[in-house]
Amino acid sequence: MLAVAIDGPAGAGKSTIAKKVAAELGYIYIDTGALYRAVTLACIEKGIELSNVEEIKSLLPQLDISLIFLNGEQHILLGDKDVSEIIRTEQVSMATSRVSAIPEVRSYLLELQRSFAQNNDVIMDGRDIGTVVLPNAQVKIFLTASPEKRAQRRVLQLREQGIECDKEKILFDIVQRDYNDMHRETAPLKAAENSVTVDTSDMTLEEVVKEISELIKERTI
Ligand code: DC
Repeated sequence: MLAVAIDGPAGAGKSTIAKKVAAELGYIYIDTGALYRAVTLACIEKGIELSNVEEIKSLLPQLDISLIFLNGEQHILLGDKDVSEIIRTEQVSMATSRVSAIPEVRSYLLELQRSFAQNNDVIMDGRDIGTVVLPNAQVKIFLTASPEKRAQRRVLQLREQGIECDKEKILFDIVQRDYNDMHRETAPLKAAENSVTVDTSDMTLEEVVKEISELIKERTI
């Protein structure tokens, strides 16, 4: 099986790019952030204080999280409810950054993530795919962009959905999330040793997709 790991900070374009590359090259795209978001949503829905690590840990065995693919598109289910949309709010994003720092949450999701790569050619995006989840991935990419560019893209994306927002607040949240993701003790965000870094700050979407597709083709023949 072939595996491509794409790691990088929030808003670098990982999911948009990975989705396109996967469709082009015939891989299954797995967005692992959705798994952490679903665990977090379950905590919020149960009214659990995010500082209450013991209660979060005791919720884990009761969780029923699954991924299904409809027309090649990943959907995430909590029980039998499709939560793919409601896990995308800013509130869930910030909360997930805290919940994903809990080692037991990470180990709970580890085998689930690995199981997808056992039977499928996958492009998996996240923060620790190349370093922890799939250390033997044939291709490892660290996708990044400046915090300002990432905030600007997020503002445009929200505007397209008719949502007005405060750019300074978005930038503040991005910097905060980067800090949390890079400084946690378990599986912090960092470039894997043998990864290729692609800085998308001054690249178009098409340019990034082309560069990454070529890199994958080169390394998997
Ligand atoms: O990629 P995303 O924005 O959907 O990720 C949401 C949060 O989950 C982010 O703060 C980091 C965390 N995450 C993680 O720790 N490890 C992963 N493999 C994927 C996401």
